[in-house]
Amino acid sequence: MSAARKQRPTRWLTYLLTLSCALGSAVGLTMLATPANGVDNGLARTPIMGFNDWNAFGCNVSASLIEQTADLFVSSGLQEAGYEYLNIDDCWMTKTRDAGGHLVPDPTKFPDGIKAVADYIHAKGLKLGIYESAGLTTCQGYPGSLGHETTDANDFAAWGVDLLKYDNCGTTTDTSSTQAQYIARYTTMADALNASGRKIVYSVCEWGNYSPADWAPAISNMWRTTDDITDSYASMLSIVRQNAQLASAAKPGAWNDPDMLEIGNGGMTAAEYRSEFSLWSIMAAPLIAGTDLRKATAETLAIYTNADVIAVDQDSLGKQGTLISETGGLDVFVKPLANGDVAVALFNENSTGASIHTTAKAVGANSRYGVYTLTDLWSKQVSETSGGIDAYVPGHATVMYRLHAATDVRSAVNAVASSAAQVSLGVSATSTTMASGASTAVTVNLTNDSSLPVLAGDLTLSLPTGWNAKATGANSAPVVGPARTISRSYTVKAPAATVPITSVELTASTTYRDLKGKHSPTSSLGVTLYSPVSTPNLTANTTSGTAVFGQSGSTLAISAAGSGVNPASSGVFTRTASDEYGAIYRDNVVGSSATVQATVTVQGGPTGFGANSASGIMVRNDATGNATPEGVVLYVNANGQVALAYAAKGGTTVDTTVGGRGGSGSTKPPLPIALKLVRTGTSYVGSYSTDGMTWTTVGTVTLPAGASASTQDAGVFHTAGSASATEADFTDLSIS
Ligand code: GLA
Repeated sequence: MSAARKQRPTRWLTYLLTLSCALGSAVGLTMLATPANGVDNGLARTPIMGFNDWNAFGCNVSASLIEQTADLFVSSGLQEAGYEYLNIDDCWMTKTRDAGGHLVPDPTKFPDGIKAVADYIHAKGLKLGIYESAGLTTCQGYPGSLGHETTDANDFAAWGVDLLKYDNCGTTTDTSSTQAQYIARYTTMADALNASGRKIVYSVCEWGNYSPADWAPAISNMWRTTDDITDSYASMLSIVRQNAQLASAAKPGAWNDPDMLEIGNGGMTAAEYRSEFSLWSIMAAPLIAGTDLRKATAETLAIYTNADVIAVDQDSLGKQGTLISETGGLDVFVKPLANGDVAVALFNENSTGASIHTTAKAVGANSRYGVYTLTDLWSKQVSETSGGIDAYVPGHATVMYRLHAATDVRSAVNAVASSAAQVSLGVSATSTTMASGASTAVTVNLTNDSSLPVLAGDLTLSLPTGWNAKATGANSAPVVGPARTISRSYTVKAPAATVPITSVELTASTTYRDLKGKHSPTSSLGVTLYSPVSTPNLTANTTSGTAVFGQSGSTLAISAAGSGVNPASSGVFTRTASDEYGAIYRDNVVGSSATVQATVTVQGGPTGFGANSASGIMVRNDATGNATPEGVVLYVNANGQVALAYAAKGGTTVDTTVGGRGGSGSTKPPLPIALKLVRTGTSYVGSYSTDGMTWTTVGTVTLPAGASASTQDAGVFHTAGSASATEADFTDLSIS
């Protein structure tokens, strides 16, 4: 016995020595000798919270903006809510380094240098972040840190900087970049920061190019997982989808960064901004406000300072929430929390409201008494459930709960005896897109997830003027038992549409009583009503989603998603393969000499106006985009220009653009704008007019011989340039 005991340490020692030798030779003994990199700097144990100027101000950063925002952190409760970092983004320096090779703060923007700003901020108990890039230049053309990492890191440290966002521009080897080169560039700066003697949060910003979730946790505190966010639902959604897949990489000190928040910037609805905040929080993302907080409305500040949602983000367990189901765009995110509670976010990606269902078991909670409380982190209502988690979630919205399992008898009994019942009122329709005068089945249901019965009133449906509903079954019994759903069905008939496409709301309502008293919930379902196009007009949808087409007199409307006909991401006159639009057209109406004209009256909106959005006229061998695609499009693009594009290479896409007039930057041309395409043989002249009298030529294109068919299709088209549909309206389509 005693001999065996003695042997043990010896065996372990031998084992450890063997292991450390093996490690030494396999990964290099330097690993043991070098100072700890980013993740071991002891910082960002929970995701950082703060502000960054880029989303709202671009290059217009200054000491006064940063200091005023710091003042506001203190006065508006943001600091108390956890916001700490004031991050200066690109454009803070001069275009050249000084004689000693040091970066120089722009004397106009930062008259007293960066250290003075750091001192100001530190005096308030806040922290300062700065920006640089891993290449020769920053994204806006200022000097980058490549080859100057040590000098820059030491200067940042000397100035009192607390965070570095390290971008990916000016990397001369871009085209031949390998993951190893990325890692090397980002590690050089990590080492320089660690050697600087100051603890600096290291924020890697290589846009998710080379799987940073695989290597950045070892050298940094956070890493961007995607390309830049823009202030649109489509951009936010695409980032959520990418970032959600990387959950396993996140841990205290090292976080996936889905980019800065857009809340308050105006491109999304309040419900969409609440979704952004909820989803960033359940994904344990850095919460970096990207709006002008000095001008933020009460509604915006209320989103940024929702303490219950922030508590989910900042939970000390440090797990990124995972997506446990995503049926048909109805997402359930789940994040375990340090005290045993579970955060649940029910996110409806779609534009129409829908019921989302999960259970306590599915989200990993377990009460041996089968009793749980759910706290709605936005409405603050607390309710009791025996395990079902049901909510009706409006389009693009998120319902967020904190689920607590009763783990002792007293709290279980208490929860049942004194909480409101978890009850959800839902409404759904067989079809949410209806033609003039059409009918659809609509179901209203009420689910009682609680442990006790509730007493329900009628499940009613209220409709806009002109709409009719007929109940197809009797109203259900008033007692709705635990874990039961009652429902009532209606046949809803739409009136004749007076405009080409319109949206209406069907509103379900009821009353029910639980231990807490009487409740009167309502839930609304958006329905699109359209008046179908009439002969000789036909429709074509080359997108992967549904498109809606409407006509009323000479007004035509198209609601479509689609990636565009000419992605403008790298400029109006470049292209990548893309051919997604909805069109209202006429078959074989353009011969070798013809004029096609139409006026764009509405383009895009209400939200989700994509960078590749286009609305205009099309002359094409086949408007359905099939067999013989050659043709020409003339359209108003997202940059406020009128552009002329054509398919000249015999491919299936519109592949070259010429000309571009009528507005600049993000200024849209005044609508209505009339567009005209004149075909003479293989030549097409595009022009536009904003007054219907004076025409300005956009350009002329000539298709290769044999490309244009002797008769071609012609009409109007729209593409949202994003995954969410937008609408464009046209008048006076004429083809002669
Ligand atoms: C890149 C980054 C952005 C911002 C800009 C500044 O695009 O991804 O977050 O820092 O550069 O030029």
